[in-house]
Amino acid sequence: MIAQNAHYNEKMASVYEQMYPIGFDTDAAVEFLSGLVEPASKVLELGIGTGRIAVPMAERGFQLHGVDASEAMLAKLAERDEKSRVTAQLGDFTRPGLDMGGEFPLVTLVLNTFFVAVSREAQLNCLRNVRDQLAEGGRFVLEAFDPSPYHVLTKPDFSMRFLGPDAVMLDTLMVDRSQQIMVATHTILDGGAPETTQHVLRYAFPLEIDLLAELAGLRLVERWAGWRKEPFTATSPRHVSVYERAE
Ligand SMILES: C[S@@+](CC[C@H](N)C(=O)[O-])C[C@H]1O[C@@H](n2cnc3c(N)ncnc32)[C@H](O)[C@@H]1O
Repeated sequence: MIAQNAHYNEKMASVYEQMYPIGFDTDAAVEFLSGLVEPASKVLELGIGTGRIAVPMAERGFQLHGVDASEAMLAKLAERDEKSRVTAQLGDFTRPGLDMGGEFPLVTLVLNTFFVAVSREAQLNCLRNVRDQLAEGGRFVLEAFDPSPYHVLTKPDFSMRFLGPDAVMLDTLMVDRSQQIMVATHTILDGGAPETTQHVLRYAFPLEIDLLAELAGLRLVERWAGWRKEPFTATSPRHVSVYERAE
């Protein structure tokens, strides 16, 4: 199975907001994150994308900084961030030595974006970058799905999603559980030539993420099943995990 990641291209960036429309859990996420730090604090978002979370955070007065590997997503962010409140740069958070200025009281990595790091080493690099950019006493928030239902897939899975009155997305999913690799393809049908993007994720179970975090010098503080602080249980489909620097 191929283990290379394709970043969000222009086509994906153009439908991203239809995939995750405003209101898709965003308000609850912004509320949760805002409660973790003092007003006007510096916040760093890894994989900032189109600013779904970052722009409303900046509108609340936080100083938003972000990094993303996709120029197309950053272009959408610039359009959405009309008052240029967000400082964003092109970069790869899986490369060792990411320097965003450091001393951030809050670092975030949401919506399964951790899994775009397609090897254990890349995931560890990412967490070490977080550790180095976090201020003492700061919080790191990671949101990801629980891989259990995908880990047992032995055949390709197919689904379709509504993007708008004139557009749908066809999604296929294949899993190689020996490597914890998931390959998803997204084909957009919108009346133009169909375009397919492939995304590779290296999923990890919550306790494995905790272990990697520990290796990177981070320690779990709390874990919830969602942004509304629902209790995390054996059947929770995802988790919102909060870490701090382990001194
Ligand atoms: C699922 S989207 C999440 C975007 C945004 N955080 C949100 O919540 O809507 C993942 C984002 O991570 C970016 N990304 C993927 N791999 C990356 C990497 N290695 N370094 C930086 N950004 C990356 C993608 O370009 C995309 O914008």
